Amino acid sequence: MKGLFLSFEGSDASGKSTQIGLLKDWLEAQGIHPLVTREPGGTAIGERIRSILLDRGSREMLPVTEALLYAASRAQHVGQVIRPALEEGRVVITDRFVDSSIAYQGYGRKLGRVAEEINAPAVDGVMPDLTILLVVDPGDMRRRRSAGEEDRIEAEGLAFQSAVREGFLQIAEKEKERFLVIDGRQPVDVIAEEIRRAVAALAGLNYEQ
Ligand code: TMP
Repeated sequence: MKGLFLSFEGSDASGKSTQIGLLKDWLEAQGIHPLVTREPGGTAIGERIRSILLDRGSREMLPVTEALLYAASRAQHVGQVIRPALEEGRVVITDRFVDSSIAYQGYGRKLGRVAEEINAPAVDGVMPDLTILLVVDPGDMRRRRSAGEEDRIEAEGLAFQSAVREGFLQIAEKEKERFLVIDGRQPVDVIAEEIRRAVAALAGLNYEQ
C-alpha cells in the first residue's frame, strides 16, 4: 500500500484529540491533506455502533459483545475508509485502532487472546505504520472530566483504567518498532514536536523546528 497509516492511542482524556488536530494542521502546512478519522466510528455504520457502545444505558452489555461491536465498527472502517484511502496514497490518521481493543477488552475486560482473535478479520492485515501512545496517569482522567460527562467506558473505575494503561504499555513493549510512546503529562507543544519529528522521518519530510 502506498499511503501512510498513523494511529493515536492512550487512556481516556490523554490529549489525543489535541495532538491529532496539531498534527493535521502541520501536515496541511506541508501540503499534505490527511484523512482524519476515529474509532469506534469513522463510517455511518460505525457511528451507530459507537452510540450503542458508549451509551450509559448499555449497562448489561457483556465483555464479549463489547469486543465484537468494537471489531464490527473496525471491520467497516478498514474496508470502507482506511484501506481505500491508503490505496490512493493518502496519509490516514485514526483516533484509536486495534490496540485499543487489546488494551480495553483484552486487558481491561480480561478477554485476553479472545480480543486478538475477534479482531483479526476486522483488521484484515491493515496495521498502522506508526502508533503514537500518549501515556497519562489513570487518575488524571477523573480530574479532567466530571462524572456526569463520562461515557460508559470512561465511567469504569480506576482499577479498570489502570489495567488498560498497563495493557497499552505491554503492547508497546512487544512492538517497539511500531510504537512511539510519549509521556502525556508533558506540555502540549513538546509532545507535538516529538510527534512531528517521527512523522516527518516516516513521510520523508524535512523537519526543522
Ligand atoms: P474515545 O473516547 O477515544 O472516542 O473512545 C471511546 C471509548 O471507547 C474509549 O473509552 C475507549 C473505548 N474503546 C474500547 O474500549 N475499545 C476499542 O477498540 C476502541 C476503539 C475504543
